[in-house]
Amino acid sequence: MSNRKQSKGLLVTFEGIDGCGKSTHLKLSREYLTSLGLKVVSLREPGSTPVAEKIRRILLDKCSSISDTAELLLYEAARAEIVGHEIEPLMASGHIVLCDRFYDSTTAYQGYGRGLDLRVIRKLHRLAVGECRPNLTLLFDVTLRVAASRLGQSRDRLESQPMAFHRRVRKGFLEIAARESRRVKVIDASRPVEVVFEDVRRYLKRRVAKL
Ligand code: TMP
Repeated sequence: MSNRKQSKGLLVTFEGIDGCGKSTHLKLSREYLTSLGLKVVSLREPGSTPVAEKIRRILLDKCSSISDTAELLLYEAARAEIVGHEIEPLMASGHIVLCDRFYDSTTAYQGYGRGLDLRVIRKLHRLAVGECRPNLTLLFDVTLRVAASRLGQSRDRLESQPMAFHRRVRKGFLEIAARESRRVKVIDASRPVEVVFEDVRRYLKRRVAKL
């Protein structure tokens, strides 16, 4: 792989409920892909541009009282920013973009979690991302009990939602994966990090071989 010219970009997204361990695997993935000589950038959603980081602060602030619809629109607004200012230019210049969450999080959290209309959400995705779609999505699946044990005591606005909310979010992610099994790979993330990363590495290796 390392002596092969990288001609076009790739968008790999990391998804799962809070406490699933995806951010750890994103870091390990970045190290692994960089060691193959690939151009890799990691980003996070919401965030990674000045405006999107401001939106992130509003969304995660426990003191913010936000209606469900405004919450949905803020996540999509942050997404439009990151796609236009970061993801598209990076992919155009042949980078592998690793993104901590993307539109599946909105489907799972605002659609399944908050109960907002999934058809409206799909239309908003299209508005926010245009043709920019993940090439591969790794879904780190854990039970609510495991996730809760990994989250610290200080929780942000979303992490503080009741268990029933997180249960619906997990169900949402699993339904997305069942519907889009070619793109979305479910990984049992309750196992030790090294074991989970073996699966991650295998999926990444297989995908970058197609570049
Ligand atoms: P993070 O803690 O993984 O960085 O994500 C921030 C929080 O925002 C997390 O609780 C999930 C939530 N979220 C949504 O509710 N909808 C979205 O579209 C995204 C990207 C994140």
